Amino acid sequence: MLKMLPRALLLLSIMLAGGNLAQELPDYVLPDSVPLKDGDSFDYIVVGAGGAGVPAAARLALSGASVLLVEAGGNPNLNTRIPGMFSTLLGSALDWQYPTVTNNISCLAYSDKQCRFSRGKCLGGSTSINFMMYVRGNHRDYDELGIEGWAWKDLKPYFLKYEGLQDLNKLPRTSIPYHNTSGTMKIGFFANSENSWHSRTIRGYRYLNFPFNYDVNAKSQIGISQVIGYVNEGERMSTARGYLTRDDVKSALKVTKNTHCTKIILDNDNNAIGIKAVVKDENQNRTLQLYARKEIVLSAGTIGTPQILMLSGIGPASHLNDLGITVRADLPVGVNLTDHVFPQIYASVNPDTSMSSQNESLERWLYNRTGPLASIGITDLTAFLNTRCYDVSQQTLIYNSSNCEIPSMQLAHSYLDVGLFQANFGLNEDIAQQLTAENKNKSLILLGPLVLRPFSRGSIRLASIDPLQKPSIFPNYLADKRDVDEMLRGITIIEHLMETPEYKVQNAFIVHLKLPDCPEYENDRKGYWSCYCRHMTTSLLHAVGTAGLGPVVDPQQRVHGVKRLRVADLSVLPEVPRGNTAAVAIAIGERVADFVLKDANKYLVD
Ligand SMILES: Cc1cc2nc3c(=O)[nH]c(=O)nc-3n(C[C@H](O)[C@H](O)[C@H](O)COP(=O)(O)OP(=O)(O)OC[C@H]3O[C@@H](n4cnc5c(N)ncnc54)[C@H](O)[C@@H]3O)c2cc1C
Ligand SMILES: *[C@@H]1O[C@H](CO)[C@@H](O)[C@H](O)[C@H]1NC(C)=O
Ligand SMILES: *[C@@H]1O[C@H](CO)[C@@H](O)[C@H](O)[C@H]1NC(C)=O
Ligand SMILES: *[C@@H]1O[C@H](CO)[C@@H](O)[C@H](O)[C@H]1NC(C)=O
Ligand SMILES: *[C@@H]1O[C@H](CO)[C@@H](O)[C@H](O)[C@H]1NC(C)=O
Ligand SMILES: *[C@@H]1O[C@H](CO)[C@@H](O)[C@H](O)[C@H]1NC(C)=O
Ligand SMILES: *[C@@H]1O[C@H](CO)[C@@H](O)[C@H](O)[C@H]1NC(C)=O
Ligand SMILES: *[C@@H]1O[C@H](CO)[C@@H](O)[C@H](O)[C@H]1NC(C)=O
Ligand SMILES: *[C@@H]1O[C@H](CO)[C@@H](O)[C@H](O)[C@H]1NC(C)=O
Repeated sequence: MLKMLPRALLLLSIMLAGGNLAQELPDYVLPDSVPLKDGDSFDYIVVGAGGAGVPAAARLALSGASVLLVEAGGNPNLNTRIPGMFSTLLGSALDWQYPTVTNNISCLAYSDKQCRFSRGKCLGGSTSINFMMYVRGNHRDYDELGIEGWAWKDLKPYFLKYEGLQDLNKLPRTSIPYHNTSGTMKIGFFANSENSWHSRTIRGYRYLNFPFNYDVNAKSQIGISQVIGYVNEGERMSTARGYLTRDDVKSALKVTKNTHCTKIILDNDNNAIGIKAVVKDENQNRTLQLYARKEIVLSAGTIGTPQILMLSGIGPASHLNDLGITVRADLPVGVNLTDHVFPQIYASVNPDTSMSSQNESLERWLYNRTGPLASIGITDLTAFLNTRCYDVSQQTLIYNSSNCEIPSMQLAHSYLDVGLFQANFGLNEDIAQQLTAENKNKSLILLGPLVLRPFSRGSIRLASIDPLQKPSIFPNYLADKRDVDEMLRGITIIEHLMETPEYKVQNAFIVHLKLPDCPEYENDRKGYWSCYCRHMTTSLLHAVGTAGLGPVVDPQQRVHGVKRLRVADLSVLPEVPRGNTAAVAIAIGERVADFVLKDANKYLVD
């Protein structure tokens, strides 16, 4: 079973294991920071060492160019390597922990009604702290964009280029054309969670006529599936691990850590010629100007990228004028923020009894990289469906139209053993207490009915001209009521899952939290759940769209109105894919390197 070890216990255990442990951990070595002087120059500068920035920088460096990769964070820590510790990374020192501005109609159960907004801050970026699920989304996500060069057939080669699937033999033969086994990102199935709720949950969905889907990255996404993860030999595979530990990359690429980019330097003709950055050394912060002879690639993510653009005078003129920033290009940067959200639904269930002790789990991971800590528990189970193809009266998933192949919802799962509930999503005290009480003698399963194509749009603006201040994020979840309606369709399915024999015999029921501002469940089921969704709103942290293809960047990711500057991260996607987002972030990073290299001879270098 999955024992989520409290962080303190893990650290204690590791310390007790003493000197031996360091030897047991087959180490991998990330690049050191290069010494930098004010005025240093490179062919290319890539800002942000996350999902997209790392592959972009690595490919450019492997081409023989001189490349500097700039990252605000440092190295990922030991906890990031242990898959079963994923939940402890949220809110840790490796998380930017951005505050958000409330819209008063979502995230109402959180302190200050603020939605949680996590992003990774270290080499690997969010791929060093994410849940490691390898899901590419639907082919239509790209075909429907209608942008030249962004159809599925254009992107597919880049998804395959980096994929190093170790477990092709565990997939049906029909999966073969959809995978590559030799790419640099080694991936595969998570270890067995040893939690009886894993197979029980699959059987529960099967009872509702969900097909078992062996491979959501092949022909069809629909059904209940155990997904592949960014995991290899029991350890996380971040982009830092997949690219930056390679000897060829390490010898070609220059990396600077703890270096916060504050601005793009533009010359009088709007050529991006360099960046300003604050390097945080041990006891001083140095401000440097670093120059790019050819191009700059911005890969600071959906929040970092629009912030840097606006600080550089590239953004909505009225907003920049209000802050006294000289406008260099009037572009709709920071609008159309869109993200995957779900209400946290808790099922109370009998505890799993195949428990291995925390010590045993830890030892098995430390010495053999096996056992529950080499898994993410039942979180590798995910279901995709089109909720319009669920027949409520028959309690069954049907297939009566080709639209049933296009999922509108993803269901996510997480198991919490007795006594392990922590208010780690920033839930307010009263709700945390109710859940702690429910979790006292029973386990909880957190179910997330995720809206794959939300209608609501948020925005991001500068909160201040101080570049080290966090920007103002307005997620604006559930602004469009249709997103709540979709959640309600998902909740009905979860209610039916509780009634399946598998769940029923284990005393499963949905916890009806007492929400004083909401109608009572008994009097008004629909009113209660609508209100619940607005209280328990949670992001799966897949935000995209703040420097969109079309309005802000052209199909080769060049920023309009500025030369020598591209954006390569999830901020370019106008719509969030119908699946988890790391896979496409890495593909975007791989691909931008080809765009950049194609233009390499345009720049005359003295
Ligand atoms: C907790 C969590 C769980 C997730 N789970 C999954 C999952 O299971 N599967 C999945 O596919 N996706 C998951 N995702 C989403 C996925 O990881 C991200 O969508 C993806 O990593 C985004 O890639 P990116 O390159 O756009 O940004 P990031 O990976 O966030 O990289 C941006 C990088 O830029 C750096 N940066 C920012 N500002 C600056 C600056 N001013 N100067 C220098 N550097 C800067 C950041 O520190 C970071 O390293 C999850 C995300 C989170 C946060
Ligand atoms: C939310 O409510 C506060 C307090 O009433 C108000 O100041 C703020 O403008 C509201 N925000 C929105 C987006 O409506
Ligand atoms: C598989 O990955 C290798 C290594 O990156 C690459 O050379 C090859 O072209 C990839 N195969 C496909 C089908 O993309
Ligand atoms: C460096 O900058 C950070 C803010 O990002 C600040 O907290 C810290 O005190 C500064 N350190 C020094 C030595 O000035
Ligand atoms: C925002 O989204 C709307 C609706 O999809 C679209 O028309 C508009 O072009 C987008 N704007 C930007 C700047 O992305
Ligand atoms: C777990 O390990 C710690 C440290 O080695 C030890 O003190 C403790 O007694 C062990 N607990 C169990 C249940 O074995
Ligand atoms: C590690 O694996 C070996 C060989 O299978 C086994 O003998 C040993 O008990 C395992 N160690 C732990 C801590 O599980
Ligand atoms: C398919 O079945 C669903 C659920 O019963 C129903 O709502 C929908 O209208 C049907 N669609 C078609 C095309 O028959
Ligand atoms: C939990 O179990 C204990 C002892 O078995 C019992 O006294 C207590 O009432 C139970 N609490 C809840 C919330 O069910």
